[in-house]
This record gives sequence, C-alpha cells and structure tokens, in this order.
Amino acid sequence: MEVFLNAEDKIPKYIQLYEQLKEKIISHDLVAGEKLPSIRYLAQELNLSKHTIDASYQQLIAEGYIKSVPRSGLYVLPIEEFSISKENGNTTAICSTDINNTIDFHYGSIDLEKFPLSTWGKCIKLAMEEELAILQYGVPQGDFLLRGEIRKYVAQSRGITCSEKQIFICNGTQQAVSFIVQLLNLMKQPVYFENPGYNEVRNILEKWQCDILPVPIESDGINLNTIYNGQAKVAYVTPSHQFPLGMILPIQKRLDLLKWAKNQNTYIIEDDYNSEFRYTGKPIPSLKSLDKLDKVIYLGTFSKSLLPAVRCCYMILPDSLIENAQKMIHQQTQNCSPILQRAIAIFMRDGYFQKHVRRMKTTYQKKQQTLVQAIKEQFKDEVEIIGQQGGLHILLKFKHADVDQLIERAKIAGVKIYSPKKHWIDSDEMSYLMLGFGGLPNEEILKGIMIIGSCFDKMNS
Ligand SMILES: Cc1ncc(COP(=O)(O)O)c(C=O)c1O
Repeated sequence: MEVFLNAEDKIPKYIQLYEQLKEKIISHDLVAGEKLPSIRYLAQELNLSKHTIDASYQQLIAEGYIKSVPRSGLYVLPIEEFSISKENGNTTAICSTDINNTIDFHYGSIDLEKFPLSTWGKCIKLAMEEELAILQYGVPQGDFLLRGEIRKYVAQSRGITCSEKQIFICNGTQQAVSFIVQLLNLMKQPVYFENPGYNEVRNILEKWQCDILPVPIESDGINLNTIYNGQAKVAYVTPSHQFPLGMILPIQKRLDLLKWAKNQNTYIIEDDYNSEFRYTGKPIPSLKSLDKLDKVIYLGTFSKSLLPAVRCCYMILPDSLIENAQKMIHQQTQNCSPILQRAIAIFMRDGYFQKHVRRMKTTYQKKQQTLVQAIKEQFKDEVEIIGQQGGLHILLKFKHADVDQLIERAKIAGVKIYSPKKHWIDSDEMSYLMLGFGGLPNEEILKGIMIIGSCFDKMNS
C-alpha cells in the first residue's frame, strides 16, 4: 500500500496515516470488504511503531471506515453516500452523516423529517384565524375544542369513555403529576412507584416530599405482592409499555390492581405515554378502559405522537375528583399555549393527526427493525435486547461489558449512548444501555451501531 508520511510535518504520523487511509477509502482506492495490512506488517513496511499504526486504525474504526473482525483482521466498510469534490487539490467529503456529526441515541427525540411541517403551520394559522379569543390566556382547564377531540380520540384508540369535563390539559407529564399530588394531598404521603420507573416523574414526587415506595418489576410487570402488603395512597404505573423495560401488564394483574385501588379506596395514575407506537400484536386496551369504579387517573401526552415542543399532555380524571380539580385549576393559569392547544385540536379535527400517527408507526417500526437487526449482527449473543414490542427506545443488557466504559468510548468516537440507571431506585445497575431511535435516520442507526460495536470489540480484545 502506498503511503507517504512527511517526517518534517508537525502533524503527528498517526494522523497523517489516518488521513491518507481515509482518503483511499473515500475515493474507493480501498474498497468495501478489502482487508487492511496487519499492524505488524504495516509497521515494518513504513518503519513506524505498532502503536502509531494502531492509533490510526483505531481512529478509522471509531469513525466507521473500517471494522475489526475478531481473530481475522481489519476490513474496509462500505461507504456509499459520499460525494467527492476536489477543491484546490484537496478532497472534501460531503455526506449527510458527516463524521463530525454526533450520532445521538437520546431517548425522547422524535422523527422530524416526516413531520408535516406545512400542514402543522396551517393549523397554527387557522387556530388564530378561527377564533381570536384563543390569543388571550385561555380556559384554565384547557381548550374546549381540544378536549372534545381528545375525548373522541381516546374512545376510538384507547377504549376510554369519558366526557370533556373529565379532561384537563397540562403542559407536560411532570406538571400533570404535580397537579395530582396537590389534588390528592399526597405531600409526605406514601406513593407506589415502579422500580425501575420514569425518573422524571419520580423527581416531581420527591420534590413534593412524597414517600416513594418502590415496586419491583418482574418479567410481567409490577410485583403485586408489594402493593398488597404496603399502604400507599396512590400507585403510579405504566401498564401498556412499562418504562423503561417495555413489558405489558397482563390482564389479570390489571384487574388485581384495580381491585386493590377499590379495596384501599386509593387511586392509580396510569401513564399511557406510548400507546400509539406498538409494533407487535394488537393495541393494548388502557387500564382506564377497564376502570368501572373510577379509580384511574389517566395521563396521555402529545410528546411522542406529535411534537415534544408543544408541551401538551392531558389527564382524564375520575368523576369523583372533578369538582376539586376544577376549583384548583381555576386558581391557576393554563400553562400550555392556547394557540398550540387549538392548533392540535384542528390537526386532530381535520384528520391529520390520525394519518400522522399511522405513518409514524410504520416509520418507527422500520427504524426499530433496522436497529434490532444491526444489534443482532454486531453483538450476536453478547446482549439481550429488551422492549421490542413498541415505543421509541430499546434497552440492551450486556452480559460482560462495562457499560460506563462503553459509553465513554462511544462518545469519543462520536456516538452518544446512555445508561438508564437513573430510572432505578437505589441501584447501581450497570449492565443496561438505553437506545432511543426515534430521531435518527436509518443510516445513522446503522453507522452508530457499527461504531458502538467497534468500541465494544476494542474493549474485549
Ligand atoms: C414514562 C413517560 N411518561 C411520560 C412521558 C412524556 O412526558 P412529557 O409529556 O412531559 O413530554 C415520557 C416521555 O419521554 C415518558 O417516558
């Protein structure tokens, strides 16, 4: 292989070598699948230390140009999206997945490429044109039109029969939970909380000094014995897609949980944050749809199905709580913008929401399949994949890897991955990795997994 290193150059040799090898890959002088010379061979050939060669190769692995195959060698990976423009004698790579871009597997991001921006823009405009009054503070309980659309939506998609009176609009799940804590006087009171469970909600309960009683999660969801044996005033649960593990609470456990709430005269907070995106089997009916005794406070959000930036979620309260909730809400102003509330209502009323959700379900399902397939190929049986039935994230449980180290290495290589340990109460759980895929294009998912794989291989070599 022809490589010219300039001894006079201030640029370190490993960078010169890395740059030249990268050039050869981009210009297809080195083609996909081609085996690179071994470190020892190239070190002898170029009269460089093995350390210098290794450093160049590591950089190429980290950036996804080459891959290390254990007990075989280093191979060039395919790059198709590069277009090469020669300017002033330099070769410049222009690519949607620019190597300087971080690939971020952050949980919470959604796909924006497929978001119908212009339709959404029209809905915002229409919202302001149809009724000038929405430019004022708005109705404290939430826009009436929006509550009407939510009522129809939850009836059709979640099996919930309710009236507009029961629906309260909030600006995000944390605010809704804060409202519930005040409504039910839960300050300093015992509250059941899934362990692991959604840390953002736990933060709010802690802020109100609730006494959090962790409920362990088993393979089929919450451990009911813990619930029967304790004395909490309320239970916060994610029955349709346990957060973060993703399992579905079986019907018998749902019924038992409702029975508990009835016997103890307590309430259940059902966080149905992800109901729209279920990829296998039929949609799971909400707990609220089974709630004949009005013990369930239902929480739904537009953060996944529409946009996190609308900061809009809704509570559906049991009849018995409406009067007090209305008194409370009239002492506050509505925190979710009335313009955005009305725009969501129009988006739903005119049929765009349902269409968007259907489209996104297919999109996210494909992304998830791409991710899972890439992980299986990359990690074989080194990891267990958890939570594939729905949602915008999966968990990986590593058999051997030091996950914190993997996160650090991947970060240096330009891929952000996260430990979900903050969702565990009093645990030093280290073997999981949480991968959010909603906001990443398929090619970045593939590239990201390849880079994580290279870091993993390096750690284990
Ligand atoms: C368990 C859970 N609940 C609720 C939400 C939505 O929160 P918000 O409505 O504040 O965007 C999320 C989003 O990430 C979540 O993971």
